[in-house]
Amino acid sequence: MSVIAVVPAAGRGERLGAQVPKALVEVAGEPLLVHAVHGLLAAGCVDHVVVAAPAAEVEVVTMAVRRFEARVSVVVGGAERGDSVRLALRAGLRTLPDADVVLVHDAARAFTPVEVVRSVVDAVRAGSAAVVPVLPVSDTVKQVDETGRVVATPERAALRIVQTPQAFAAAVLRRAYDILAADDESASPVASVPQATDDAGLVERLGVPVRTVPGHAHAFKVTTPFDLALADALLVGHPA
Ligand code: C5P
Repeated sequence: MSVIAVVPAAGRGERLGAQVPKALVEVAGEPLLVHAVHGLLAAGCVDHVVVAAPAAEVEVVTMAVRRFEARVSVVVGGAERGDSVRLALRAGLRTLPDADVVLVHDAARAFTPVEVVRSVVDAVRAGSAAVVPVLPVSDTVKQVDETGRVVATPERAALRIVQTPQAFAAAVLRRAYDILAADDESASPVASVPQATDDAGLVERLGVPVRTVPGHAHAFKVTTPFDLALADALLVGHPA
């Protein structure tokens, strides 16, 4: 019984406006990706981490995570986030076929406290098939049409902001990504998975209940230059 964490880090992160892929942008002298991997392993309950890297950056990413030795492996990511998760998941299950829990964690949520990692793993071990960390919403949220006109105001008390790591019973995530078919070496190329902005969204489509546990403000996703400034402020004196 073991825990794999999959870290999709193959996006370009254009909203950040950096010259390098977002996962390689440095905060306190270390790439975001290294902070994220460090946090996962520091939780003490993750056995192996697989990073999906941009094709052009596999060597750089491999060097960046070298200090974690055999606990971290790197694969080439895919065209979409879902493709990157599927490729990393397949590699992780090859490394640890007995894994019963899989986490999916965005490299951009680099400062997620270890308590959040532990609590999603504990919830799966306690019997939940899918678990996501969430925060209450403090702003009112409007649904708009393509012209920007407001069409609905969902009740705020029922809304949650969803973070990562999201944790799954390994068999459930494997089914969601239909990697059984992708495991067949003769199947080529790997078909693109339907677009979902998070992995729990795919699992929901299978009718699997998704539980929530409390997230943490520090698990914010570094997306804009403002977020980068926030990360710098957070990490002053606390490098990975
Ligand atoms: O674009 P967004 O911030 O939602 O991306 C979420 C995560 O998915 C990022 O960590 C990004 O690096 C990753 N990603 C990926 N492969 C892609 C596109 C995005 O691993 N092809």
